[in-house]
Amino acid sequence: MSNDYLRAPIDPNSAQSLEAGGLRLDLVDTADAEQFGSWLQAEARGFHDGAASDETIAGQVAGLAYRRTTGVWDDTAADAASPVATVSSWSTPVTVPGERAIDAWAVSAVTVAPTHRRRGIARAMLEAELRTARSLGVPLAMLTVSEATIYGRFGFAPAVMAADWKIDTRRAHWTGPTPDGRLNFITVEQLKEQGPAIVEKVRLQSPGEIEPWPLFWDRALGLTGSEAERPKNLRVVRYDDAAGEPQGFATYVVNEVAGDVFGHSLEVRIVSTATDDAYAGIWRYLIEMDLVGDVIAPLRAVDEAFAWQISDFRAATKTRQRDHLWTRIIDVKAALEARRYSAHGSIVLEVSDALGFAEGRFLLSIADDGTARVRDWPGAAPDNAAIVALGVSELSALYLGGVSAATLARAGRITELHAGSASAIDASFRSPITPWLSIWF
Ligand SMILES: CC(C)(COP(=O)(O)OP(=O)(O)OC[C@H]1O[C@@H](n2cnc3c(N)ncnc32)[C@H](O)[C@@H]1OP(=O)(O)O)[C@@H](O)C(=O)NCCC(=O)NCCS
Repeated sequence: MSNDYLRAPIDPNSAQSLEAGGLRLDLVDTADAEQFGSWLQAEARGFHDGAASDETIAGQVAGLAYRRTTGVWDDTAADAASPVATVSSWSTPVTVPGERAIDAWAVSAVTVAPTHRRRGIARAMLEAELRTARSLGVPLAMLTVSEATIYGRFGFAPAVMAADWKIDTRRAHWTGPTPDGRLNFITVEQLKEQGPAIVEKVRLQSPGEIEPWPLFWDRALGLTGSEAERPKNLRVVRYDDAAGEPQGFATYVVNEVAGDVFGHSLEVRIVSTATDDAYAGIWRYLIEMDLVGDVIAPLRAVDEAFAWQISDFRAATKTRQRDHLWTRIIDVKAALEARRYSAHGSIVLEVSDALGFAEGRFLLSIADDGTARVRDWPGAAPDNAAIVALGVSELSALYLGGVSAATLARAGRITELHAGSASAIDASFRSPITPWLSIWF
């Protein structure tokens, strides 16, 4: 989708309900540096970040203008020019099972000033975002969340999990394949040039992955803010295969362990690898680093292959595993037809949705080649069809293939109307590649 979504009007329903409370919902003119700057400062305050420097704000004004930027203003507040609530959104492809992508409505920067909390502002903004996405024909909404308690009520559910890993490199001798490519140090500026092409090769490999935006690179590489604010110990290494083709890279910092001048901990920032060979090349390099006792790798997949490529399985531990990407189906037919499935069959889905977007009874017919057709299905279920009743949150959890229908059935979150329906859904929906999203947005 082009960025036509920038011109989508403000949602009249939410504008009206906020107006009844003396508040004004409006779009920010991102070309107006002063207005956008004050919105960015309000967002920073909402997340308890420090006030951003003029330089950082200037970079964000340029780098985030592609987002549809909305605020809520209280014209009676002492500082009436600062919004009391913020949200931004854009349409971007997200990978779905079958190495393909679907347009999704990414929602970010949801904040409400503590002076105005718990009077329905976030609800008005979120519902407005969903209605706007639907009016633009975007079939799915998604976000990464600060708390797991907020978005279920709007039909979102965790669909992609992530893990923070710690590898004790004194115990973890590399037993994986011996890569035949080579590693090269490159500068952050070179990575900014070369990284997007590598990430683009990787993007369709795991369901849940999205395209990084240009400012993402500047932030990840420490290129925002002033020269003095830039990290001095960020290292970048690129892996080229035996033919000399760049196939992966890692950025990382090595920190001294307090009180041990020769002891270090290596913290991985980004590892992106397009091939198994590059994966082995990069992880072997990180794990075998001299003078390093442990490798810390946050926000990785929950089943990283490196755990199987070291001599001691217990040397790689997950220090944290939790929900990462939350999705919300808006258009059941478009969303379910966009992905591929692992087993053919017929599944009737009775979907309830308090906000109405996904409500209905649908027949999902999956062909032998894994493609599917979805029809409204008021009638009796075809013979041998699986049938379940579930909420839009549960369908959204299952959508990317990383959550088990059998587990949701056991939890009472979906109801099997034919015995064995949850297993049938798992056979079709589960992705052979564990979903993973490598970034926050
Ligand atoms: C989270 C936040 C946006 C909520 O804004 P708000 O305007 O107070 O929320 P609302 O009044 O619209 O509440 C909507 C619903 O969410 C619930 N809710 C709001 N914040 C919640 C929270 N932090 N935890 C659990 N429930 C929450 C409310 O109880 C309400 O429930 P109901 O409609 O079922 O009765 C706001 O507290 C905030 O800015 N927090 C800090 C920044 C942040 O974490 N943003 C989220 C980024 S992903």
